[in-house]
Amino acid sequence: MGMKHAGCLLSAKVGTTPHRTLLSAYLVGLLLCGGLFGATAAGQAAEAGLIIHADRGEQTISRYIYGHFAEHLGRCIYDGIWVGEDSPIPNTRGIRNDIVEALKQIKVPIVRWPGGCFADTYHWKDGIGPREDRPTTINRPGGGMKESNHFGTHEFMDFCEQVGCEPYFCGNVADGTAEEFAEWVKYTTSDGDSPMANLRRKNGRDKPWKIKYWAIGNEQGGRDYALTYLRFRPYLREYSGNKVYSVPSGPVGLDYNWTDLLLKMAGKHMDGLALHNYAWSGERSQSATDFEEDDWYFLLRRSFRMDEHLEKCIGIMDEYDPEKNIDLIVDEWGAWHEDPKAPNPHLCYQQNTLRDAMVAGIHFNIFHRHLDRIHMANIAQTVNVIQAMILTKGEKMLLTPTYHVFDMYKVHQDATYLPSELQCGTYTHEAAKTYTMSEESRDKSYLEELGPLYDIPALTATASRDDAGKIHISICNIDPNKGATVRCEIRGADFKKVTGSILTAPKMNTHNTFENPDAIKPVKSDDFKRHGDDLVIKMPSKSIVVLEIE
Ligand code: AHR
Repeated sequence: MGMKHAGCLLSAKVGTTPHRTLLSAYLVGLLLCGGLFGATAAGQAAEAGLIIHADRGEQTISRYIYGHFAEHLGRCIYDGIWVGEDSPIPNTRGIRNDIVEALKQIKVPIVRWPGGCFADTYHWKDGIGPREDRPTTINRPGGGMKESNHFGTHEFMDFCEQVGCEPYFCGNVADGTAEEFAEWVKYTTSDGDSPMANLRRKNGRDKPWKIKYWAIGNEQGGRDYALTYLRFRPYLREYSGNKVYSVPSGPVGLDYNWTDLLLKMAGKHMDGLALHNYAWSGERSQSATDFEEDDWYFLLRRSFRMDEHLEKCIGIMDEYDPEKNIDLIVDEWGAWHEDPKAPNPHLCYQQNTLRDAMVAGIHFNIFHRHLDRIHMANIAQTVNVIQAMILTKGEKMLLTPTYHVFDMYKVHQDATYLPSELQCGTYTHEAAKTYTMSEESRDKSYLEELGPLYDIPALTATASRDDAGKIHISICNIDPNKGATVRCEIRGADFKKVTGSILTAPKMNTHNTFENPDAIKPVKSDDFKRHGDDLVIKMPSKSIVVLEIE
């Protein structure tokens, strides 16, 4: 993990201008009185300092970092996105209007489909043509549910067009052939007078679609897969000016050897490299809503592991590709509680609390630190599955706390990343650190992936500047017991107006329900004051704030 967050930057030079000296003196003062890294009494706000280099922005925050993953799993597609044209639930050509509206609001840039594991059993020709003629198949990775194939290529592309996002297809390299894959590419993107393009026309779509991003397989590994990837890759051709971009399956969890082997064997034949990494919930409770502070700590500690994984993976990529031609595509991430007590565990349906919102905020602030490699990230998943944005029940739908983070953070999409230095204390939960984990209760890989239980930074932050020149700062205060006062120096820019919103709740496990869908949502806040040249931001415990500075 980049210890920047944890306070190594204490020694950062803060410059010599009167402005800078002020903040420097302030921080030294805090240190002397033990405020910044010393213990603060429970409930007392912790002091922190944030220096934003508004004059040093060079990199763009790729909007694709705010991407999604929607799989034929549980109720993500059926009941979630697709209800069918005859449904009493308001829809456009079978796609729920309320879902489309909600996704447009958060500016979803791209959706990966149809899996996941489902992709490696999916035969795309089952999902084209008149719906009544499509075969019903069995969704084996999804727990053996029936798959009507009513939501296929045309419906997915209609969904993307309604939402205004790009598609990211995932091809079947397990029980699918290279020919089948090649035909899918032709069917969807070729304008010629060819059997596949003509079949598409017969099915109601004259013009080809633009589909740039293609994953070749999902969570496959080993030498055999590398050879398979190399065999499939030439069939991802550019037709009718459709630029294509190929993504092989990369590391899942801690498998760094795989990254090494794949880059060695196929590094010259890929545009991106996929990485999957989930934040599994606490050792003590796997419930999404019924958990204690040690589980809060475990899951957020686990979220910071993403940074360690990225650094290791990027380190290997740097060896093979020092010019950074290959992007890292984190095409599955999120908090996965995998509650064994859930009524239907194979549906992967889970509630979503303030804790999940914090997981999302931490991940975004981590992804933004690796912009020279990370081009895309796709949260798992859009509706009703794992860390969902939206939950549905019949005609009802609710927006989760994670949705609200995507909404608040959308200001960073395509903005210029502004380097910053955050000086803050750490958060830990001592009881969690001494908790003896039972090696029987969960598999060892969980313990290994959780890593050493050290203190985590109490705050994480990102700053960016949009095309209109507005600066946005997002900060997560992870500590569930202490508020934070962040003194912020913006170097190279003056400001006149600050507005902002805050996401917090009375409890760590506050969540929205169909009966009370607004139990947690962002509210406008004005707890930001100018002090001299600096901005002082007051944050309650367990809160996420996004500010707009003009
Ligand atoms: O997102 C759920 C599943 O998790 C995906 O199908 C698979 O790729 C991953 O293991």
